Amino acid sequence: MKMWSGRFKKELDSLANDFNSSISVDYKMYQEDIKGSIAHATMLNEIGIVKEEDFNKIKNGLEAILKDLDSGELEFNPTSEDIHMFIEEELTNRVGEAGKRLHTARSRNDQVAVDIRMYLRNRITDLIGDTKKLIDTLITLSEENLNTVMPGYTHLQVAQPVTFAHHVMAYVQMLVRDITRFKDCYKRMNENPLGSGALATTTYPIDRFRTTELLGFDIPTRNSLDSVSDRDFVAELNFDISMVMLHLSRFSEEIILWASQEFKYIELDDSYSTGSSIMPQKKNPDMAELVRGKSSRVFGNLMATLNMIKALPLAYNKDLQEDKENIFDSIETLEICLLVFEGMMRTLKVNSNNMREKAKKGFINATDLADYLVKKGMAFRDAYKITGQLVGYCVDESKSLEDLSMEELKKYSEVFEEDVYEFIDLDFILAQRKVYGGPSPEAVKVQIKDTKEYIEKLGL
Ligand code: ARG
Repeated sequence: MKMWSGRFKKELDSLANDFNSSISVDYKMYQEDIKGSIAHATMLNEIGIVKEEDFNKIKNGLEAILKDLDSGELEFNPTSEDIHMFIEEELTNRVGEAGKRLHTARSRNDQVAVDIRMYLRNRITDLIGDTKKLIDTLITLSEENLNTVMPGYTHLQVAQPVTFAHHVMAYVQMLVRDITRFKDCYKRMNENPLGSGALATTTYPIDRFRTTELLGFDIPTRNSLDSVSDRDFVAELNFDISMVMLHLSRFSEEIILWASQEFKYIELDDSYSTGSSIMPQKKNPDMAELVRGKSSRVFGNLMATLNMIKALPLAYNKDLQEDKENIFDSIETLEICLLVFEGMMRTLKVNSNNMREKAKKGFINATDLADYLVKKGMAFRDAYKITGQLVGYCVDESKSLEDLSMEELKKYSEVFEEDVYEFIDLDFILAQRKVYGGPSPEAVKVQIKDTKEYIEKLGL
C-alpha cells in the first residue's frame, strides 16, 4: 500500500510501479536522506511542532536505520518507490506513530532536492581529491623529465622543440582549471532548498536558516519554485566532469600514439597494458583507449541532462527523477578513469633517447635558422624564404640542416658564419625558449613552482 494511496481506489499496476520506482538508483543517497531528515526533525522539534519524545524516537530510529544500512544488515526494498519512501516506511515500522510525524512541513520535492545537493557536494570533494592525486603524479613525472627533449607538434607535424615535462605540464594546467571549476560548482550547489515544500513552502513557521546551518549549507535558496525545479547544478557538474573527461581523452590519444611502434616515446607498464587473443606480439594501451571511449558516454549524460530540463514548466515534474542515473554514471566513470589514468602515468617508462632522435629530424630548428639570419640583419620574410629553400635542398639530399657544410649554406646566403651551428643546436634552441610559460628546462622549473603555489592557494 502506497503512503499516498488515500485517494485511490486501485493499486498501482505492478509494471507501472517498477517504471515509477527510482530506488535502484537513488538508494545511493541514503546517508544524505537520513541526515536531511534528522535536521528537519531537529528544527521541527525546536519550533515545537514535533514533541521531544517523538523527536527522540525519530532521531534514534533514523540513526539505527543508518547503521543497519551501512553494515548491510538492512537491505533496500526494491519495490519501494524511492529512497525517501523506503526510509520513512522503515522508520514508521520501527518507531510507530512518531515516524508519521517526520514528513510534517516537507515534500519529497524539497527532500530530493536537498538530498541530491548534499550527495553531489560530497562527490565533488572526492573528485577534487582524485584529480589532485593525478596532478601530483604528473608533476613528479615532469620533474623527472625537465631535460627530456621532445618534438613539439602542430597539425601533428614536427614544429619546434619542447620537453616532455612541458608537454605533461600542459595537461596539469588543464586539470588545475578543472579543479577550480569543481570548486565553483560546489559553491553554487551549496544552498539549501529544504523548506520549499512541494513548490510553495508551508504554513508551518519552519526555520530554513536553522536547517541550513545544521546541514552545512551556506544559505537557504531564495525562491521555492526555483528550488524544487532547479537541476542546473546537475547539468553544471555534468559539464565540469565532461571537461575532465575531455582532457583525459586528449591525453589518452597522445599516450596511444606515443606507445605505438611508430613513435615509441613511452612504454606502458605491463600492469596497465593488455595482450591480444590471437597476436602474441601485441601490447595494447587499452586503459587509455577506454578512457577515450568512456568520455563519449559522459558527454551524452550532459546532453541528456540539458534536454531533460529544457521544456519543463515550473515547478517539479517527474522527469527530474531522471537526473540521477546520468550524473551518478558520470561521477563513477570519471572516478575510475582518474584512478586508472594515475596508475598508468605513474608506471610508464619514458624513452628519452627516442624522443631526442625524433626531435632531431623534421627540421625542428628551421625557425631558429631563419631567426639566425634575422639576427644578422636580414628581413624575416627573406630569411624565411632562404630557410625554406635550404629545407627543400635537405629533403632532396636526405640531410638535416645541421649537417650542411658552410659551403652549402653560403650558396644560399653570404650571411652564414660558423656560429650558425651553435645557433641551431637542439639543446641550445630549447634553452633559448625561456620566456615565462615556455618549454626550456629553466622555464618549466618556474612553471612547476608557480603551479604548486597556485594549487596550495586553492587549499588543496
Ligand atoms: N523519486 C523522486 C525523484 O527523484 C522524488 C520526488 C518525488 N516527488 C513527487 N512529487 N513524486 O525526483
